[in-house]
Amino acid sequence: MEVGSLKIAYAPGKVILFGEHAVVYSQPAIAVPVTQVKARAAVETGLEGQGITIVAEDLEQSYTLEQAPPDDALRAIVVSTLEHIGVGTRQDLTITVSSTIPIARGLGSGAAISTAVVRALGQHFDRAQYKHFEHLVHPLSPQTIADLVYETEKIHHGTPSGIDNTVIAFEKPVYFVRDRKIEIFSVKNPFLLAIADTGIASPTKIAVSHVHRAWEREREKYDEIFDEIGTIAEMGRQAIERGEIEAVGRLMNENHRLLQLMGVSSPELEGLVEAAREGGALGAKLSGAGRGGNIIALITQETRSRVELMLRLAGAKDIIVTEVS
Ligand code: MEV
Repeated sequence: MEVGSLKIAYAPGKVILFGEHAVVYSQPAIAVPVTQVKARAAVETGLEGQGITIVAEDLEQSYTLEQAPPDDALRAIVVSTLEHIGVGTRQDLTITVSSTIPIARGLGSGAAISTAVVRALGQHFDRAQYKHFEHLVHPLSPQTIADLVYETEKIHHGTPSGIDNTVIAFEKPVYFVRDRKIEIFSVKNPFLLAIADTGIASPTKIAVSHVHRAWEREREKYDEIFDEIGTIAEMGRQAIERGEIEAVGRLMNENHRLLQLMGVSSPELEGLVEAAREGGALGAKLSGAGRGGNIIALITQETRSRVELMLRLAGAKDIIVTEVS
């Protein structure tokens, strides 16, 4: 391949509709992609002998594979992808990543960056261009991408359920149960979600480990909460498949109440959830790990502007409206 050859790939953000945290304890959860925000990875052939350079544009960082610490998630995804493809790491490449997905807000920024890197490397080493690599295992299927990214999710999140990398790799609404084959389901009546940011970063790893410690202290209480959330996710899927949007909203409210009981809400999240409901949302809940990050509110074209106004008045730092379809 000639020097300068450029392959670019993207991956969307995501939100969890139902089942965050409980999904870590093997309950079902539902997540949907958010295409309004995205991660981008560009792979460019470098000069002979330069090795692999990773450029993280947003962080204004640039380093070679050798310079990266062993727990660097970008290094990990590059190495595992190249090994998976079967070409090894003795390459001359510049891999540049950037993202419009806010970090540590429950939108899957880490998984999206890794997914974009896998896709861009996959394109770069496409079998068509590398005919002499007979052993290449392309194309990289969504499940293969999800599996590769899961390994880097462990670096970001400790003990992730795998839902983030799955929904982002498949780019479809997913019904997810840990360690089971994913199920993609249909949305009978598309609906709108407002995603409102508290502006507070909340690393998933920390929230998940707080819940884990609380579960160890009070197993019965937490197992009961997780079970109820699992039932809500199940019902949520049915309501979405049947197009019963009001039921989806009620289930979101119920899921939020259980997340409050779990101890992962915060005054800022409560303020936004209340504001969305006052503005006429059919339901609202925190989404993702909690303690900061985003809430999601189920809105219609009629309630959209009022809910957005109420959210802004309540201090939302950013609002994304996305259609689930
Ligand atoms: C993070 O997006 C969702 C959590 O349930 C963690 C996980 O599933 O790994 C909080």
